[in-house]
Amino acid sequence: MHILITGAAGMIGRKLTARLVDAGALNGRPIETLSLIDVSAPQKPERFKGSVVTSAADIADPAAARAAVASRPDVIFHLAAVVSGEAELDFEKGMHVNLDGSRALIEAVRAIGDGYRPRFVFTSSIAVFGAPFPEAIADDFHLTPLTSYGTQKAIVELLLANYTRRGFLDGIGIRLPTINVRPGRPNKAASGFFSSIIREPLAGEEAVLPVEDSVLHWHASPRAAVGFLIHATAVDRGQLGPRVNLTMPGVCCSVAEQIAALRRIAGDTVAARIRRAPDPLVARIVAGWPRRFDPRRALTLGFRGEASFDEIIRVHIEDELAGKFAA
Ligand SMILES: NC(=O)c1ccc[n+]([C@@H]2O[C@H](COP(=O)([O-])OP(=O)(O)OC[C@H]3O[C@@H](n4cnc5c(N)ncnc54)[C@H](O)[C@@H]3O)[C@@H](O)[C@H]2O)c1
Repeated sequence: MHILITGAAGMIGRKLTARLVDAGALNGRPIETLSLIDVSAPQKPERFKGSVVTSAADIADPAAARAAVASRPDVIFHLAAVVSGEAELDFEKGMHVNLDGSRALIEAVRAIGDGYRPRFVFTSSIAVFGAPFPEAIADDFHLTPLTSYGTQKAIVELLLANYTRRGFLDGIGIRLPTINVRPGRPNKAASGFFSSIIREPLAGEEAVLPVEDSVLHWHASPRAAVGFLIHATAVDRGQLGPRVNLTMPGVCCSVAEQIAALRRIAGDTVAARIRRAPDPLVARIVAGWPRRFDPRRALTLGFRGEASFDEIIRVHIEDELAGKFAA
């Protein structure tokens, strides 16, 4: 089997690559070739026994997109994107990568024709929804995003459904919750503080909280996100039907509940490393975001996330901190 990952040098791309390399197979089929693409060449996974092709390319360049799919990967994970904060600050870049890049890639698949119909897993976002919201947002709630990022993801969701209906590819859109705890340094996502307030205190550093403690949000760990993407390759097309975009299961909790979980797991000293500094821009963006979902379709199709925010923190301590934190 041949697997292509775009955005392979990103946070989820690296973890997905590592999980696939560890497994050596997907849905019972051995992985022979991995193609990894990003704007700067992704690292070659060391332990992989098959062949790896890494390339530095802009996926929005139609020639690069055609080259990426020319050898007909069986499964395509399309992760390349600029995140919410950056797509809001740099409108043209967001449109270029998130919309033009996605379109270039699905067009490159379509252009091959000849019965080529790969499973195409697209990482969408809960930002496709916009306020005002019902108590819990179901998959069939209308798409009225309130950010440029959410708009770009929503457009690609529609294209994915139509390209699937037309038989150009076999698409599934995975609306990821906010991924928490995001490892590494903070990125430009407006949601970055949801991770910072856990990650930095556990590393012995101060974290800044720009919103009220009452803010509710929908979370899943990086480990769960990778699990969703892998499971997406196994979902039966007939069971999925024409509504190919699915909201993933997550943990709904307030910032106060996040902090309480941190205190339960790591103690008062760690939780006291969070400093409150309200930021009206972040608060305004976050106010337009959805909070609670009804992921019944995804659950029925076998997707599983964490059961509590405590579990999300434990995953971070196990996967990123080798079981230890700065008490
Ligand atoms: N992390 C989250 O909380 C979250 C939530 C919802 C959806 N998502 C989506 O999941 C996907 C992966 O997210 P992530 O957290 O790993 O993001 P990330 O920013 O770590 O990774 C994205 C990667 O895409 C690459 N990229 C950007 N422009 C590109 C281009 N023109 N051509 C090729 N590669 C390009 C970047 O260099 C980066 O390595 C994205 O599509 C993102 O929108 C993430």
